[in-house]
Amino acid sequence: MNYNKKTIKDVEVSGKKVLLRCDFNVPQDKETGVITSDKRIVAALPTIQYLLEHNAAVIACSHLGKPKNGPDPKLSLAPVAKRLGELLGKEVLMATDVVGKDAKAKAAALQPGQILLLENTRFEKGETKNDPELAKAMASMADLYVSDAFGAVHRAHASTAGVADYLPAVSGFLIQKELDFLGGAIANPKRPLVAILGGAKVSSKIGVINNLLEIADTIIIGGGMAYTFSAAQGGKVGDSLLEADWLDYSKEMVAKAAAKGVKLLLPLDTVCGDAFAADAKSQLVKAGEIPDGWQGLDIGPETVKLYCDAVAGAGTVIWNGPMGVFEFPAFAKGTEAMAEALSKTNAITIIGGGDSAAAVEQLGYAAKMTHISTGGGASLEFLEGKELPGVACLLNA
Ligand code: 3PG
Repeated sequence: MNYNKKTIKDVEVSGKKVLLRCDFNVPQDKETGVITSDKRIVAALPTIQYLLEHNAAVIACSHLGKPKNGPDPKLSLAPVAKRLGELLGKEVLMATDVVGKDAKAKAAALQPGQILLLENTRFEKGETKNDPELAKAMASMADLYVSDAFGAVHRAHASTAGVADYLPAVSGFLIQKELDFLGGAIANPKRPLVAILGGAKVSSKIGVINNLLEIADTIIIGGGMAYTFSAAQGGKVGDSLLEADWLDYSKEMVAKAAAKGVKLLLPLDTVCGDAFAADAKSQLVKAGEIPDGWQGLDIGPETVKLYCDAVAGAGTVIWNGPMGVFEFPAFAKGTEAMAEALSKTNAITIIGGGDSAAAVEQLGYAAKMTHISTGGGASLEFLEGKELPGVACLLNA
């Protein structure tokens, strides 16, 4: 996939109406609707500010949540417009629809230096179907399409990809940064490239493992998925998370790594608990020797040493998925030790979005990483080597 895309700096934006796709899919309190993290709004600011300062009229749009049956007041983007206005220090106009009368009238009246936010794009049924009529209607309000919604580039929706059929399409600064780091790490990594893969399930990381086996020098396996690998090697995993359907695959991957000369590191020891609970009793056992009634919840100290040594000598580290149940302090030590090791290495450190980003942030190491992706599913699909519709639709540089 070509990651070298035109950006807002490569085109004239002054005097233009710009349809800007952001990822304002922010977490909200279920009861009150209050935005619990404005990180995604903050991440969009550099592009919005650049466009406004360069005399563009910005028609911003985004999805929020997964509305199934048209407009749902609980999933209105109005709270986002309010927060965005506070962050920008200027009024953010809000349309009550996406391509209806209100949106069209407000977009038509919008002046350079002003910003309008359309309602939740998923209030339109055609959005997730990538309906060309919806894409055309959105595009008709603007002269230029800018995408900065990295978190949604894996979706082939009307507002993330379809509109690019009707407008010149370029990336904003956030997508550009994600492509530079993630794309650089995949296409031209400083070696050795060490990939740390964790999280609960092997089945959710198949594509990533397959792709990284072709690219990485070392693959480190941790988290719940390590127990399926352990069982595939004949280990006893007690009551640990186990995906029986993926035992053969795990065995094959170990063999494939050996054949390719890729170091595939598996845990040497395991911190297990007698329940999946923050206050579970714990004990340290050798990997593959987890007693019945116990489940693996973190990597042990010998594993931490092995993995940290691998990271210390890396040129690039890509991390996707925690090493244990980091939400429980008693089982966060492995994940924390890896985060600390990454903070000390001279390697380029790239953290996938979702759980890995949350872990690094929660443990206080975020500022020490080279790049933390804003996309969960998007960064995963990126690491799988898949073509991302929201990137593919942008003009090549
Ligand atoms: C995300 O939160 O990962 C993105 O906004 C994509 O959201 P979606 O999974 O609802 O498409």
